[in-house]
Amino acid sequence: MNVITAAQIKEAASYIAGRTDLKPEVGLIMGSGLGVLGDHLENPVTIAYHDIPHFPVSTVEGHAGELLIGTLSGRPVLLMRGRFHMYEGYGPELTAFPVRVMKALGVSTLLVTNAAGGVNLAFESGNLMLISDHLNMTGKNPLIGPNDNELGVRFPDMSEAYSKRLRGIARELAASQGLALAEGVYAGLLGPTYETPAEIRMLRVLGADAVGMSTVAEVITARHAGIEVLGISCITNMAAGILDQPLNHEEVMDTAERVKSQFLDLVKGLVPL
Ligand code: 6GU
Repeated sequence: MNVITAAQIKEAASYIAGRTDLKPEVGLIMGSGLGVLGDHLENPVTIAYHDIPHFPVSTVEGHAGELLIGTLSGRPVLLMRGRFHMYEGYGPELTAFPVRVMKALGVSTLLVTNAAGGVNLAFESGNLMLISDHLNMTGKNPLIGPNDNELGVRFPDMSEAYSKRLRGIARELAASQGLALAEGVYAGLLGPTYETPAEIRMLRVLGADAVGMSTVAEVITARHAGIEVLGISCITNMAAGILDQPLNHEEVMDTAERVKSQFLDLVKGLVPL
């Protein structure tokens, strides 16, 4: 059920607004190992999640649990270093609560990033993938429950969840940076287990190119709120059954570390747009 109220969103947003004079226009949610972008903000104000009313607290290694507001490439941004996942026990609406707060603060564009497993056999670890669309395989939806018409419509259109306009800009920017940028469908699952090889074969048949445990609830909420979305996956490892090796979180973190400079250049270049 939808446990988030308009009053809670307002309280969280007022607290954050009271800590800075900047009015963020772009929201950045950084995936595992990708929070270093926060170090590149100019004059950032850092706010711990546990200080923000009604904010959950992230519990995963590689996710710091703080929100930064500052300027990046000349634009006021709000960056989340660490996000909430349903496998931590949060419902989808709580996972996406920060997106509601971003909207209340005036954010109109959301850039979501994640670490994901490669399902497409043409991928290799370290590839970056523009998300063209997603498969919500979580069996959950952050909009379940009574709809608040002030926040968005009852039946949101998802035919362009990931903005065509922003994807075009990202492709052009990547080309100008000489950066290979794949494009494909992200399947969002609950986790926390990685998938079995049979599940990965199933996902491939269903049209997935990458698989992860985040993003879909945030993007559904952003679209409900009328926020334009761009998503980028860092393929940190190939999914189960493709290479003859087990999967682990260390590999995810190591690969994120390895590609971080390319990744940072791409995201920094995207923020003005
Ligand atoms: Cl292979 N699966 C999922 N669900 N999440 C991941 C992953 C795989 N690799 C990185 N994150």
